[in-house]
Amino acid sequence: MVDNNISQTVKNLEAAFAGESMANRKYLFFARRCRELGAHEVAEVFEETAAQETEHALAHLELLYPADTLSVEKMLAMAIEGETHEYTEMYPAFRHTALEEKAHAAVAEIDEQIEESKMHAERFTATLKIAEKRFAALTRIEERHANRYRNTLAKFSAQESDS
Ligand SMILES: [Fe+2]
Ligand SMILES: [Fe+2]
Repeated sequence: MVDNNISQTVKNLEAAFAGESMANRKYLFFARRCRELGAHEVAEVFEETAAQETEHALAHLELLYPADTLSVEKMLAMAIEGETHEYTEMYPAFRHTALEEKAHAAVAEIDEQIEESKMHAERFTATLKIAEKRFAALTRIEERHANRYRNTLAKFSAQESDS
């Protein structure tokens, strides 16, 4: 969400969304590790709580992205923007720091993420193109239907006035 008059509540909802989303992934990660350690009951507690964190995150998204503001094209455009930011700005900067700090494992992992983000951006871009084409075709079909309806209506009212 980019808005110059961004309210503090919007910022808070974004931070809360980030926190709940991270809790979800972290608990699933912990659950996996618990299962490896044989602590299956603890894993279950993490998994069930993780599912609730997903609902908490989604509740914040409902407010941040009201349904009537989202079109298919807009969602794809936002996804492309996010992925592009990751592989063109965020990860390259992080990679630079990791190199400076000789964090070799992080450099290797970041390189993989750069490739993944790039692939995600490309896939979303290709999907957007298809969606736009489909939307244009649908608009043409709807126009044709509307015209046919208008013509029929015109004929009908002409007949009505004849009789
Ligand atoms: Fe929560
Ligand atoms: Fe991604």
